[in-house]
Amino acid sequence: MTVYLETERLRLRRFTAGDVELLVELDADPEVMRFLTGEPTPRDEVESVVLPGILKVYDEYPELGTFAAEDADGFAGWFGIQPTADPGTVGVGYRLLRSAWGNGYATEGTTALIARAFEDLGMMRVEADTMAVNHRSRSVMRRSGLRFEKVFHVHFDDPLPGTEFGEVLYSVDRTTWEAGRHG
Ligand SMILES: CC(C)(COP(=O)(O)OP(=O)(O)OC[C@H]1O[C@@H](n2cnc3c(N)ncnc32)[C@H](O)[C@@H]1OP(=O)(O)O)[C@@H](O)C(=O)NCCC(=O)NCCS
Repeated sequence: MTVYLETERLRLRRFTAGDVELLVELDADPEVMRFLTGEPTPRDEVESVVLPGILKVYDEYPELGTFAAEDADGFAGWFGIQPTADPGTVGVGYRLLRSAWGNGYATEGTTALIARAFEDLGMMRVEADTMAVNHRSRSVMRRSGLRFEKVFHVHFDDPLPGTEFGEVLYSVDRTTWEAGRHG
């Protein structure tokens, strides 16, 4: 098992080709998918698109990717720390089983990924985005030290309810993060 990082309550490890079931189960909950696609991800899409895409990023960016999160009871969801068009910037994200919500896990994992980005990976900026109406996700961003930057609009052929309010971008740069840590 390739462990990416450990926090007080979580272990983040690389996904493997044998993890299809975990991703199918996670994406099967309409409440988890509400602000993403609005529907479960079909198993064949997990097998042929989602999981291969995750494994490919490990090859191309060995320090980045999407990582399975486990607590004392097992799989809890995933966290992502992804490349962007700017090599000094990474994007963070998370998706947890509903049974794992309400424990502070998303904030704990995201806070650790932001520290990894600045302390170990030499990044200059970390960002995250979500639908404006995804208040749980926005709270995670705020609690993890990301700050609201802007609303932006994306065209979708089949928009989810709430798309009219746009997407929100949160970010923190290295200087601000360091000042928040030590100041
Ligand atoms: C977004 C998502 C990860 C947020 O999960 P979450 O559990 O609400 O977020 P946190 O892990 O930060 O937990 C915060 C909650 O845990 C509670 N909590 C309990 N114990 C805690 C502890 N030890 N430390 C911190 N918070 C704790 C907090 O009070 C808060 O509760 P509240 O929701 O009643 O205010 C989750 O809703 C999810 O997976 N959604 C689907 C996927 C998604 O939308 N992803 C984002 C798309 S960009």
